[in-house]
Amino acid sequence: MAMTIGVLTSGGDAPGMNAAVRAVTRTALSKGMKVYGIRRGYNGLINGDIVELNARSVSGIIQRGGTCIYTARCDEFRYEEGLQKAKAKCEELGIEGIVVVGGDGSFRGAADLSARGINCIGLPGTIDNDIQCTEYTIGYDTALNTAMEMIDKLRDTAESHDRCTVVEVMGRNAGYIAVNVACAVGAEAVITLEVPYDLDKICADITEAKTSGKNHYIVVVAEGVGNSEKIAKEIQEKTGIESRTTILGHVQRGGSPTVRDRVVATQMGCYAVELLEKGIGNRVVGMKDNKIYDVDIQEALAMKKPFEMDVYNAVNMTAF
Ligand code: F6P
Repeated sequence: MAMTIGVLTSGGDAPGMNAAVRAVTRTALSKGMKVYGIRRGYNGLINGDIVELNARSVSGIIQRGGTCIYTARCDEFRYEEGLQKAKAKCEELGIEGIVVVGGDGSFRGAADLSARGINCIGLPGTIDNDIQCTEYTIGYDTALNTAMEMIDKLRDTAESHDRCTVVEVMGRNAGYIAVNVACAVGAEAVITLEVPYDLDKICADITEAKTSGKNHYIVVVAEGVGNSEKIAKEIQEKTGIESRTTILGHVQRGGSPTVRDRVVATQMGCYAVELLEKGIGNRVVGMKDNKIYDVDIQEALAMKKPFEMDVYNAVNMTAF
């Protein structure tokens, strides 16, 4: 009998999740499988908020941000009772495998469910690019481009007013967005959790640049640092340059996915279904040396990802 699989999105949404859902659905259908969309992450599995997907259900979504099957975090899934409810629901519907698009927390759930007999494959979906086992996460490129566009606009107004604009970008636990977007907008400084920062030095550089005629400054701060208002105040006090803070926030999570996000999500979605078809579970699909690969979930969770010091230095170590 043909296989039945499910797909769910979990944790913070990311542009490109829809492309992944579409790819999983259509790849599975082309193999004669039955596909269920499990709504609002693992909650849908526990509560039975599940719909059958056909090729039409995933029409017209590849270009849309967000996730058409909704997403949520699910506390109940961290406990045996929740896991057993989910397993029972899978058995009731004949679901043999699930593709889980999300972050590390979602992968832990996928490992727990795999250990209870339902093969799960994780796809990395988060704008933060902070999943250790993969060079790239679905949503990252779109978020970078959104943040870049917004900061380009902030530069216009900072320049008109001879100001310093301090911009906080997302990344609760990682500075990948901050560093790359800072580089792309030509920021004067980037402040992240990964590297200790010296605000006195940043202020001294700004003061020196001012004497050479520079009239506007961009300082990018990663969300995890958490002090963007205070940083702006301090820059103003130490340099005499009027400073303003902008927190970009959730705008970075929305919007139509870029080509890269649509293509990577599609590749990963197809790959995940192929693993499930072979009866393989407890794996995360990632990108290594620019190629799609898969790795054991526990191994994936234990990996360490290098911080991009070269990009960090390209922003912070250059004269302006
Ligand atoms: O998607 C990742 C992320 O954007 C983090 O950078 C941020 O701290 C977090 O999600 C916030 O998510 P939420 O507001 O949905 O809890």
